[in-house]
Amino acid sequence: METVKTISELRAARLRLPQPVGLVPTMGYLHEGHLTLVRAARSECASVVVSIFVNPTQFGPAEDLNSYPRDLRRDLQLLEKEGVDLVWAPEAEEMYPPGFQTWVTVEEIARPLEGSMRPGHFRGVATVVAKLFNAVQPQRAYFGQKDAQQAAVIRQMTRDLNFNLEIIVCPIVREPDGLAMSSRNTYLNPQERQAATVLYRSLSAARQAYQSGEREADRLRQVMTEVIQNEPLARLQYVSCADADTLQEITGRISGRALLSMAVFVGKTRLIDNFLIGEENHAPGY
Ligand code: PAF
Repeated sequence: METVKTISELRAARLRLPQPVGLVPTMGYLHEGHLTLVRAARSECASVVVSIFVNPTQFGPAEDLNSYPRDLRRDLQLLEKEGVDLVWAPEAEEMYPPGFQTWVTVEEIARPLEGSMRPGHFRGVATVVAKLFNAVQPQRAYFGQKDAQQAAVIRQMTRDLNFNLEIIVCPIVREPDGLAMSSRNTYLNPQERQAATVLYRSLSAARQAYQSGEREADRLRQVMTEVIQNEPLARLQYVSCADADTLQEITGRISGRALLSMAVFVGKTRLIDNFLIGEENHAPGY
């Protein structure tokens, strides 16, 4: 496994890789969710490139850029074991040199949900992912369904900017008690870690209601809200029952695929999670 830092080293190493090349973009501090993406890439591509970059432009001023967990040595050991060919771990100055002034802004689909709570977040994500795609030139790129809106934004950008690659979105990987894997779970103390299952419990309750025939989007939002409100350590930021393709909030009855999603603070840690309902086992694009 080769590890490079600069864009010119990356380009030289990329030229030597057999095609198709699969890219797994990450911010490091890898967990089983990332490794599942790496394994999917390994099984479908001749070469696998993993990028590790805590992208400053997708963090808001009051967010956790400085405290975001980092452990490059451990990440490299894990990736070596997975048979990754090339790791690209650039410095912030390499990605955003002085004078940088070009941004990628995806519009409608980036506005609701995370976009409304984290202004500028998707501009940072779309910009860095476009830069990763340009530099690595992969044939496939792998993302997790946990960041459902991020996946939708990247698909839209890939289409709109004619990137010649396939976006693959892999299912959420969960702990045995249902908590979706996330590098931010390491912020939780033992009581908060227990309370954090509330996201999964809340989504499960709404899915159960849907499976029992409930089709009113408002009612599902209410079911999710009630479960969160019953958890003393949790503070709800939003719950949503949205059209799975447009991410617009559903008013009235659910007819096609819907994305149930939420952001919840457990203590100071902000967690997100989602379930797809309606045709979920053969949902194109997710
Ligand atoms: O999902 C992430 O880890 C990041 O948002 C990504 C896609 C690597 C861009 O920085």
